[in-house]
Amino acid sequence: MKYEAIIFDLDGVICHTDRYHYQAWKQLSDKLGIYFDEKINHRLRGVSRMESLNIILERYPGKPLAKEEKESLAEEKNIIYKKLLEQMSPQDLSREVKDTLNDLRTLGLKLAIGSSSKNARLILKQIGLGDYFDAVSDGNNITQSKPNPEVFLKAAGFLKKEAGQCLVVEDAKAGIEAAHAGGMDSAGIGDAADDPLATYPLSTMRDLIDIFK
Ligand code: BG6
Ligand code: MG
Repeated sequence: MKYEAIIFDLDGVICHTDRYHYQAWKQLSDKLGIYFDEKINHRLRGVSRMESLNIILERYPGKPLAKEEKESLAEEKNIIYKKLLEQMSPQDLSREVKDTLNDLRTLGLKLAIGSSSKNARLILKQIGLGDYFDAVSDGNNITQSKPNPEVFLKAAGFLKKEAGQCLVVEDAKAGIEAAHAGGMDSAGIGDAADDPLATYPLSTMRDLIDIFK
């Protein structure tokens, strides 16, 4: 088997934070008088906080905002978001995901996180996986967000593996593109399952085991 490691996206793969992102961005958008809905929220998956804000501001009716104003808005959203994350618990980790991770580890694979989020470690702690992964590459150790491959290449580096030895698991188009750009195979779940750049389509996380049979 050519793979020695699996790099998992966090939001939308290991657990689901979409609704918390939605609620936090919605609160901010309402305050600014910007239209925001689930469809726009969908476009924010896999992209960084500031890029997400820029997408939301496409509908801002006022004058373009200064860098400092945008930074303050992104921080405001993050405070709301982090408060919402306090609701997360180990119950937000499904039995299927937990069992699949344990079985992959038993097969001898190294397991890492490759997430654009700066809150990745907080989320992992909330769902009971604080010390679980062999490496965590997240929004705090990158300068460019997905579809740039930096977050996955850093994860591979932390594990001391080559790109070709790693398989990426992703739910977002930006993540599948990032894996491809980094020379990594990928398994797409959810919307990413039928992405033409994805090496394997997954109906459920459990399907990952079949790749290693
Ligand atoms: C990604 C999410 O995992 O993290 C994006 O899919 C989000 O929607 C990005 O914008 C950044 O998250 P955070 O927690 O750093 O604001
Ligand atoms: Mg995701």
